[in-house]
Amino acid sequence: MTTPYRDGFAPVTEEITAFDLPVTGRIPAELNGRYLRNGPNPFDLDDPNAAHLFLGEGMVHGVRLRDGRAEWYRNRWVRNAATARRLGEEPRKGAVHADFDFAANTHVIGHAGRTFATVEAGARPYELTYELDTVGPCDFGGTLPGGYAAHTKLDPHTGELHAVAYYFGWDHHQHVVLDPQGRVSRTTDIPIADAPMVHDFALTQRYVVIYDLPVTFSMDHAAKGAPLPYSWNDEHPARIGLLPRDGGQARWLEVEPCWIFHTLNAYDDGDQVVIDAVRYPKRFVDARLDLGGQPTLDRFTLDTVSGKVSETRLDDRAQEFPRADERLTSLPHRYGYAAASHDYVDVAYPGDTGIEDLPDEAFGNALIKHDLPRGAQETRTFGRGSAVGEPVFVPAEGSAAEDDGYVMAFVNDPRRGATDLVILSAQDFRGEPVATVHLPARVPLGFHGSWIADLEGQ
Ligand SMILES: [Fe+2]
Repeated sequence: MTTPYRDGFAPVTEEITAFDLPVTGRIPAELNGRYLRNGPNPFDLDDPNAAHLFLGEGMVHGVRLRDGRAEWYRNRWVRNAATARRLGEEPRKGAVHADFDFAANTHVIGHAGRTFATVEAGARPYELTYELDTVGPCDFGGTLPGGYAAHTKLDPHTGELHAVAYYFGWDHHQHVVLDPQGRVSRTTDIPIADAPMVHDFALTQRYVVIYDLPVTFSMDHAAKGAPLPYSWNDEHPARIGLLPRDGGQARWLEVEPCWIFHTLNAYDDGDQVVIDAVRYPKRFVDARLDLGGQPTLDRFTLDTVSGKVSETRLDDRAQEFPRADERLTSLPHRYGYAAASHDYVDVAYPGDTGIEDLPDEAFGNALIKHDLPRGAQETRTFGRGSAVGEPVFVPAEGSAAEDDGYVMAFVNDPRRGATDLVILSAQDFRGEPVATVHLPARVPLGFHGSWIADLEGQ
């Protein structure tokens, strides 16, 4: 069977615990916490789960920093019931949604002092301990009615964590708000036809912004055994929804057909809503991934008076995994960070022909810092084959300027055959890293991560 898990994506087979990691440079003593990153790491490349990059069992890689030291590195599979059994362990207790028990592989976040591995499409998060052991599937103390989402947005003013959940068996998407204590405080169902896939959303102070784009659940492809039964659907409209955060119905504004995985940030500007996101010309031709061109950083400006949407290209170079200073989620931002990337294509379903899989060129060897009002970028390159992942911005202690802080990413070092956690100064983006933590092993390419600062006493 064709597998996309080659080269940089090739899974690792061991769980490692290593202490007192070697460091080049100096880790800022103020960085007390964990840098965590999730990604698919199938057990066995002959498993059906290894047929698609989105379906491999999640593995979380983490580095704990404290008092200027890199205290530990750990990597741990997320143990859903099947994974626990394969590792000779008892399945964890806890209720899954709709019998969908998935080893969450897309993101890892901290909220209410807890750690969650997250995924979309109807599954619930898995809660992890501080040291990345699996606690179990999480319904937030019985308050989550359905599944959850891979991507979340924390409102920096209210401390509420927003998400948009979807599931092929639903006739709606569901906006879910977690309170700062980690309990669902409200849900809002948004009626949407055809069960479209939605990977991310955007948040402003006034609106939850929902992407309803023409990639929808396909019974045809499910019947053919497609590992990810979603396809491009010309019959489905392309539109962006504005769900008022203070109540009421979503209002839908039409856009050119396109596909968006990720939002950089969004905000209100008078009667306009501004969304910066990575846009693809399309997602699939039928069920075959064909992005129709490079993913570019674009600005969507939604006029809430005229109902018109205008699009501006902010950077036409291929890039993905956009991030911003999360103190500004839902508020105007100046800077953004992204990883350089290339086109990618992957497996539609077993037995299909003429299909390429995802090459590592999806991850480049550069990070990009955007100064958006100036239309300027700084590009920070690493060595050949370094396959640098998502850049996570961490504010410096007492930071006043938006870019006063650090950018962290996993960067492969092909000479060592292992990965480094690189900590850059965001204000000296092209300079020597502030610190490089040398991990004892390769971290396969993966998806998203977080810096989770320690709480008092951790
Ligand atoms: Fe994502």
